[in-house]
Amino acid sequence: MAKKQKPWAEPYKIKMVEPLKVTNSEYRLEKMKEAGWNTFLLHSEDVYIDLLTDSGTNAMSDYQWAGMMLGDEAYAGSKNYYYLEANVQKYYGYKYLVPTHQGRGAENMLSKALIKPGDFVPGNMFFTTTRQHQEIAGGTFVDVIIDEAHEAKGTHPFKGNVDLQKFENLINKVGADKIAYITIGAPVNMAGGQPVSMENMKQVHALAHKHGIKVVLDATRNIENAYFIQQREPGYQNKSLAEIHKEFCSYSDAATMSGKKDLLVNIGGFVACNDFEVFEELRNMVVVYEGLHTYGGLAGRDMEAMSRGLEEAIQDDYMASRIKQVEYFGNLLLDAGIPIVEPIGGHGVFLDAKRFYPHIPQTEYPAQALAAHLYIDSGIRAMERGAVSAGRNKETGENNMPNLELVRLTVPRRVYTQSHFDFAAYSIVELFEKREQAKGLKMVYEPKYLRFFQARFESL
Ligand code: F0G
Repeated sequence: MAKKQKPWAEPYKIKMVEPLKVTNSEYRLEKMKEAGWNTFLLHSEDVYIDLLTDSGTNAMSDYQWAGMMLGDEAYAGSKNYYYLEANVQKYYGYKYLVPTHQGRGAENMLSKALIKPGDFVPGNMFFTTTRQHQEIAGGTFVDVIIDEAHEAKGTHPFKGNVDLQKFENLINKVGADKIAYITIGAPVNMAGGQPVSMENMKQVHALAHKHGIKVVLDATRNIENAYFIQQREPGYQNKSLAEIHKEFCSYSDAATMSGKKDLLVNIGGFVACNDFEVFEELRNMVVVYEGLHTYGGLAGRDMEAMSRGLEEAIQDDYMASRIKQVEYFGNLLLDAGIPIVEPIGGHGVFLDAKRFYPHIPQTEYPAQALAAHLYIDSGIRAMERGAVSAGRNKETGENNMPNLELVRLTVPRRVYTQSHFDFAAYSIVELFEKREQAKGLKMVYEPKYLRFFQARFESL
């Protein structure tokens, strides 16, 4: 055997397993039809390898499960809240914390607290729930990400970066007082998990603060972002993830967080900030929408699991194995000539449906179709991130047609083994070989909000 690079391996082992049901493609075709060609509407027991999302699908450690037994389920002042508060202050650096049941609970409150009707909210590419809450609060999202992010191909190491010129143009056009805040998501989910550099974050912060604009971090996968900075940005190679992550957060005024990603739990989130007035507003609101300010819709045990998950997620060896597993999967596909988003991102591998199914026009939802076909063919569940997810223009009602028409193969944390990814890659290659036979879809039911979750389709 030729001498290869030293392989990576997980810094944990398996203690408990969950059996999976193995089905055949006739069975799955029936299930897909029943689900209206939408992978969100499948029953999970009919799925073999579930790459729908990395959200809440994490495997918790024995340390986290042990913490679940220490839930202080008092209505007010649970000790698990104070431990979470201390850990958020230690690892994120924000002064004030309000727990929420998940990320969108935080987005709802922060949008309501900071956006006035008619305001603009720039950001480095939209995220579905984030933009929805901004719009409900009366804001208009403006994309200020660099152009490279809208291309599936490329080599830019920080494709999630903000184009400072676009941000400045918006300030000049509408005036700083019409900008509620700028949101930075890092890595950028909809762009394929592409990171933001420390340098860019610093510059965004400087430009925003020069004009009195707040910077809000969508910290959902920010520890993954810190790993990319450590690997790719000069000057950070010898710094720990904990140091890099905290420095990154220091260039923001507040953060919304879905603990269901980075923090290795199945439920949980928070909103954190440095400004006392903002905190007061959030603390007022949380009792209306989530629960008391010391639990925010979570059980004490959930807060304990999230605190402990944070302590594990910030470990360099854990995060290296997390990202390297995604890279391993992505490289299997690249080596087989499968069109994916490049560079390979943080939380999953994204198939480029425009190149996978070039014969299906975007109006026939090639990514939605590809996700359905992959399930029928091999029992793997993925998610559409293209025209269906992009929804409609809030003013004109026209369908948004994003440049990126992707299928996201998301990697749950600590859940699947290398052989699951060997199997997944093999199945995708098989599907690619018969791609000419594939047909597009027609949408037959469209919900009003976040339509990708519940829309139904028929095969053309
Ligand atoms: N921000 C980002 C970047 C996200 O990816 C998500 C969720 C949220 C906010 C909302 O958090 O789900 O806890 O309410 N993303 C999931 C996904 C749904 O599959 O990408 P939530």
